[in-house]
Amino acid sequence: MVEAQPSKTAFRVALRRAAHQVVDYPLVFSDPLAVKIVGSALQEEIARTPDKRRRPASAGLRAFLVARSQYAEEQLKTAYANGVRQYCLLGAGLDTFAYRHSYPGLRVFEVDHPATQAWKREMLSASEIGIPLSATFVPVDFERQDLRNQLGMAGFSFDHPCFFAWLGVVHYLSLDAFRTTLNLIAATPPGSGVTFDYSLPRESLAPHEQLEYDSLSARVALAGEPFQITFTPEAIRAELSAFARIEDLDTPSIATRFFSNRTDGLNLRGSASRLLTAWR
Ligand SMILES: C[S@@+](CC[C@H](N)C(=O)[O-])C[C@H]1O[C@@H](n2cnc3c(N)ncnc32)[C@H](O)[C@@H]1O
Repeated sequence: MVEAQPSKTAFRVALRRAAHQVVDYPLVFSDPLAVKIVGSALQEEIARTPDKRRRPASAGLRAFLVARSQYAEEQLKTAYANGVRQYCLLGAGLDTFAYRHSYPGLRVFEVDHPATQAWKREMLSASEIGIPLSATFVPVDFERQDLRNQLGMAGFSFDHPCFFAWLGVVHYLSLDAFRTTLNLIAATPPGSGVTFDYSLPRESLAPHEQLEYDSLSARVALAGEPFQITFTPEAIRAELSAFARIEDLDTPSIATRFFSNRTDGLNLRGSASRLLTAWR
């Protein structure tokens, strides 16, 4: 990421979650604050590119993003039912969970790059979204700062389990930063878990998907947030050897779970991205 610049990809993802609330029916992911947090930007975006939301590639990306958020919150629900009372959003972006959830006793830690987090706080204030006492902001650059220290100072308990959501972040990290963060999660008590998404290596994709990957890759690089790491399913399993149970969803599994029986055509495109949950 560009130092001192809030994440542009975080804004783009938030815009798509917001668009989903007004463009798609039925909702895959219901977020009553998604439109509010992006302010007037959603209407400006729709006005500027009125047909974009219907283009297959654009809709395909939106489909993946809303499935990703819904999947993470379903996993959190399971963790909460099993007694987990800490939820940590790693690279939270403009995620609104902390301001709309109804889980008594749940503490939510929002970890993000300091520049992105400062910008988010301005967005929250501008859109008059209240911040509950159960939410704690933890500014951390995964590449340069010690996540354990920062979380500890913020009141995170390493003696209790936590569920982590790490959505849309892994691609942008160095392998070192990915492993350091994963090691911290792997050291949390049994009952903890993490959901994240990852991309398959470009060379494992079909030629037309390689072109789509190149296009997205060029756009995020232009935004100052180039893709850095990809994994094969075998490689990611090897990274997760400290975890007891893994669910790794490929495109057909995600489509079956979140896009069956729709009549509006909203669905995933391509097979580059996968959703994974690992439990301690
Ligand atoms: C594509 S956005 C996803 C945001 C959010 N998880 C969501 O799904 O809406 C990527 C996020 O990763 C964060 N990020 C990227 N590199 C980071 C780093 N080195 N340290 C901390 N956060 C980072 C960005 O600030 C941004 O919030």
